[in-house]
Amino acid sequence: MKLTTKPRGTNDIGPGEIELWLELEEKIRWVCHAYGYTELRTPIFEHTELFQRGIGETTDIVEKEMYTFIDRGDRSLTLRPEGTAPVVRSYLENKMGAGALPVKLFYYGPMFRYERPQAGRYRQFTQFGLEVLGSADPLLDVEAIVLPMELYKACGLSGFEVEINSIGCPTCRKEYRDKLVAYAEPYNDELCGSCQSRLHRNPLRLLDCKVEKCKEIMENAPSILDYLCGDCKEHFNMVITYLDALDIKYKLNSRLVRGFDYYTRTVFEMTYAGLGSQNAIGGGGRYDGLIEECGGPPTPAVGYAVGVERLLLALKSQNSSDFTSKGPKAYLVHFGGETKLKAAEIAYFLRGQGLWIELDYLDRSVRAQMKAANRLKSENVLVFGEDELSRNAVVVRNMGSGEEKQVNLGDLKQLLITLGADTE
Ligand code: HAM
Repeated sequence: MKLTTKPRGTNDIGPGEIELWLELEEKIRWVCHAYGYTELRTPIFEHTELFQRGIGETTDIVEKEMYTFIDRGDRSLTLRPEGTAPVVRSYLENKMGAGALPVKLFYYGPMFRYERPQAGRYRQFTQFGLEVLGSADPLLDVEAIVLPMELYKACGLSGFEVEINSIGCPTCRKEYRDKLVAYAEPYNDELCGSCQSRLHRNPLRLLDCKVEKCKEIMENAPSILDYLCGDCKEHFNMVITYLDALDIKYKLNSRLVRGFDYYTRTVFEMTYAGLGSQNAIGGGGRYDGLIEECGGPPTPAVGYAVGVERLLLALKSQNSSDFTSKGPKAYLVHFGGETKLKAAEIAYFLRGQGLWIELDYLDRSVRAQMKAANRLKSENVLVFGEDELSRNAVVVRNMGSGEEKQVNLGDLKQLLITLGADTE
């Protein structure tokens, strides 16, 4: 093992990249504020049992993807592979249900899954998620679709698709499950290894197997939508009615099942075709039984999580102009000596106004400094030439328009106005 190599499936997020992340985080907070969601920060690790019970023993995540370890007190702990179960645990532990309902929470942070790394699939990745607990209103299912859509749009992403399905409640699903097993059993020998092992343990997952032969076989499988009970049908119809009323474009996909046992009724996923095989930029659904499963009273809930790395990959692939990192307000070019002293003084003043200001610390030529300003995408360049300084002035060049202006340094307010930074 090399000390200079990061663990497989992890990423460093540094200069040139972090700016996009910070901008995205700002947008997340803005959109959550508009929809009345409050942030919840839960621990990075939880008791392993929370995920085993919450996500489901037979899911891929619990069977083979969790980072589980025994601590020095002999407890089994797991790095969180997702955010829903921890939110439910926190909701119950902090008795949030005793306050005003529904409780609307969002979270942002790293998740961990031992998956085979590839573009868009990592072992440590970041999710922005939202959860609404304490209401069965189908309008909240729609809100859990609309809010992330607003975020995608605010980032400038276009061309993503919304897929939606209902997987019913435990009652109607039981009948469907039996029908599905009866349909797939005769094909058992033709199914892939994981579908064979899932056929009796978790047959719904056969519907989203990516193996060609399995896809072919499942093409004619019965549709869950034909087996929904009256209440589930009514709920799904209302979701569709709201989506249509809001003019949200979606695709009904009766094969969409998602990889968690906690889902009931509505499930949804958003995809961006330009991402290749890892094209889901987020997913979610209703989970009306999870809170009870974790020891609480029956409480309906719904949520969604955005894969942040994938969203940023999608934005980069479409070269979103709304979402490119901005440079400093100004780069201060100096000629050393007195001019550097003056540049340092003005940098100190401008930074005190909260502006991002850069200057040269390597005593480079003016040409090299201009190059550095360009590379950083500086909005303006301030040239501290000796001639101008003898008149206590500086030349301000707007890098966008190329326009140049001499500004008297005795009037710093004028300098702020010229930089477009006067907030009065
Ligand atoms: P999920 O579909 O497993 O759902 O994850 C949501 C999103 O996280 C995915 O659509 C994808 O963009 C991203 N993601 C998942 N795994 C990886 C990975 N290994 N590398 C990079 N990105 C990844 C959930 O986690 C549910 N808790 C969502 C939810 C919230 N349901 C209800 N409330």
